[in-house]
Parts: sequence; C-alpha cells; structure tokens
Amino acid sequence: MSEMLEKARKYEDEQGKQIKAEDRPAFHVSPYVGWMNDPNGFSYYRGEYHLFYQYHPYDTYWNSMHWGHVVSKDLLHWEYLPAALAPDEDYDKIGCFSGSAVEEDGKLYLYYTGVNYTVENPEDINLCLDEQFVSAQMMITSEDGMQFDNIKDKKTVIPVIQNSQIGDARHTRDPKVWKEEDGWYMVLGSTIEDRKGRLLFFKSTDKEHWDYVNSVSKGEEFGWMWECPDYFEVNGKQIIIFSPMGILKDGKADENQAICMQVSFDKKNCRMELPDTYQFLDYGLDLYAPQSTVDAQGRRILMAWLRMPQPVDGKWQGMMSIPRVVEVKNGKIYFRVHPNIQNVYTKKIDSPKEASDAGYRLRFSLQDGEEVNVGGYRIFRQGKKICTDRSTLYTAFPQFRTEFATPELADGFDLEVYVDQNLIEVFVNEGEAVISNAVYQLGNEIKVQGNVSVAIETLE
Ligand code: FRU
Repeated sequence: MSEMLEKARKYEDEQGKQIKAEDRPAFHVSPYVGWMNDPNGFSYYRGEYHLFYQYHPYDTYWNSMHWGHVVSKDLLHWEYLPAALAPDEDYDKIGCFSGSAVEEDGKLYLYYTGVNYTVENPEDINLCLDEQFVSAQMMITSEDGMQFDNIKDKKTVIPVIQNSQIGDARHTRDPKVWKEEDGWYMVLGSTIEDRKGRLLFFKSTDKEHWDYVNSVSKGEEFGWMWECPDYFEVNGKQIIIFSPMGILKDGKADENQAICMQVSFDKKNCRMELPDTYQFLDYGLDLYAPQSTVDAQGRRILMAWLRMPQPVDGKWQGMMSIPRVVEVKNGKIYFRVHPNIQNVYTKKIDSPKEASDAGYRLRFSLQDGEEVNVGGYRIFRQGKKICTDRSTLYTAFPQFRTEFATPELADGFDLEVYVDQNLIEVFVNEGEAVISNAVYQLGNEIKVQGNVSVAIETLE
C-alpha cells in the first residue's frame, strides 16, 4: 500500500471511530472524518452500491483530495470502508479529483482526474500556487471493489490536454464514463479560456485508449467552467447534468450550481445540442456535483453533495443527499425520493420527539399562504411556488443564502419532507421540484399556519 494511503487509513481509523453514530446524520452519508465533497464512482457492483467521495480526512476543509468509500445493500444503511485513493503519485499529487466507475467482467474500473502542480507552493505542498496546475485523466482497476492498489494500478488514460482548441490543460476534469452499444463514452467538464464552460466527449473500445470526438459549449451566462458532467437517458429522453461554476452572479456564497436539461445527442459524432433553458437540480442551492448510476431495478438514480458552511462538532463537514430517482414527466425532469428510503417511514408518531435516530418524514399539502414550521425551518406556499426559509437557523452565516423558492409548479402542492439533524429535503409533487437545505440547531417542534394536517412518520 502506498505510504499516503496507509497514513490516511490509520488517521481515519483512529479519528473516525470516535465520532458517535448519534453525532452523525441519521440517514445521510457523511465523511468518516474531516471533509467531504462530490460523490464519485457511484455504482451497483456485485450486489452492493458503492459510493466514493471527495475526501480530506485530516481537516474539515478542502485540501489534498483522497477518495473515501462507503457501501450499502439498500441505499439506506451505509458501511464505512477504508479510504480507496490517496494522492500519492506525481500526476495526482494535488489530489485525486472527481470521477466515476464502471464494471466489466467482474472488475471495477475507477476513472478520476489526477491534478499536479507545475510549481511547488513553499507554504503548503498540497495547495497549488496561482493556479499553476495541470490535470490528466486517470484509471485504476480493482478485482473486487475493495482493494485499490494505488502503487501498481493507477494509469494515465488521457494525458494533460495541450491543445487549447480541444480542452484546457488546467481545468479539464471529472470523467463520467458509460457504455453504449458501440463502446465506451466519456464526458469531461472543461472551459474555454476561463470564460465559458464546455464539455468534451471521448470514445474508447477498451476503456484505456480514448479518442477525442467532439465538444459542446454555450454562452458566458452559463458559467465559466463546467464541473461534474453526467449524461444518460430516461423515459426515452436524453439528459445532461453538469455543475457550472459562476452560473449565479449575485456575489453570495455558492455561485456554482448543479443544473440539468433535456438535450439532443448524436452518439455517432458526439454532437450535443443544448437548449437555452435549464432546471436547477435542487432549488435549495446547497446541492452540488450530482452523480448518477443505475440501481438494481434498472432505475436511473443519483446522489449529490450537500454543502455546509461549518463542521458539526468540529469533526466532519459535508453530506450526501438522499438517493433520488430521475424521471421525465410532462416535459420536466423529476427527482423523487428513492423507494428504498420512501418505504421505510411507516411508523406514525405525534411529535418529532418520538422519532427514531433515523429522523422523520412529514407529509402534507399546502394551500396558498399556508406554512409549516419545522423546528425553525419554514416551508410555505406563495401562489404557485413552494418556498423555504432557514434564516433563524443560519444567523451565524450571513454570507449564505437563507430563502429559497421553486419555480411556479403545475398543480397539486403535495410535500414530502425528510428531516435529519443537519439536512432537510423537501420533495414537491413526487419530485417536480426539490429544495434541500443544510440546517444547524434544528428544533423539534412543528408549528402550522392555516388548515394544514401534517403526518409525521419515522422508522419502525
Ligand atoms: C466539484 C469539484 C470537481 C473536482 C472536485 C475537487 O465540487 O471542484 O470539479 O473534481 O470538486 O475536489
């Protein structure tokens, strides 16, 4: 095992087990210890869901990216496994950035971006100086999804792109690989001169040798760099998801947001046409860098990183959303709660105080002007929009957004709200729109304005 991986595993083993289960979110994945961002390598492999994540075990801030690793049989109970990747080679010494996983012939193939600085930073060799870095696309294979030989099995599959017509040497990352009838496809996020985001498409027949095929871009109003792209088809529609940096331009925290749209994609030449409109994946604007896979029943599902302004108990920071099922209905992309989670909240209770450790779910419908206040978190309806407000729970974070709204919704205002100690996810009309928000010091009282009847349910 590489020295860096050994060190990370030793550290997380000592520190991670000191975090008590009750001090973690109940049913959301959090880092074993330290910092978490994007989901990576999300896959259903040999009967288990594997989820890796961008991980810095040593501190509760972003630095020196490793890949953390959890597995689950049911998408509800997750088991922590030792860190899988460490930035221990020349080509990934700043970090093993985001990527994806595919399976073939029983082997798991992980793709990720290896980032390397071109000038060493004398203050901290893990942080790069003045954007002087380059990115290459890497692959590492595993025979069993558990062992990752960071010394022998890492390979560069797409070296640093030197031709700026094709891509950017620095900002080209986050390989998402998938299979089509004629072979393997990869989409990468990139930029044109740090002005406009773009996506790059590559093809391969053996998963190792990749040919550049095409790219797609859009106006500067779509942000300057597109991170974490993901392409798939559901209900006969072609969908692209990506996370443009700087798509919001209001100076608040998190101008980077995950968006999705229906596209037309010609696989032969990887020509993609992007429409002028998009949906936010989540109108809570805390969610970022989603990644999808296909579940055991063939559904397209995804998980995403929920950004948090501050660590919990000084020990961990960042969470994953509940797994969501992606569908296209009535011309819109829907994100509904995965049934494995939805189906277990069967025990009716009268108050959140009776909820099990797994938190609870609320179900109710709202008429215009009505409101449900969940321990200080307001959920209300204004005309055809559902709105939320966490301002009383976020007084410590003035630079962060506190008020949110869905776009105008079609019909029916049926809400399904999953409440965990640091995260509330509000699903409207079976996923027509979702608002997910990180919260701190949530109370356990529910107050209602109007004639709302609220069902409270927890796990048996
Ligand atoms: C998105 C992102 C990715 C990158 C990773 C680094 O949050 O910036 O583009 O690969 O995080 O941690």
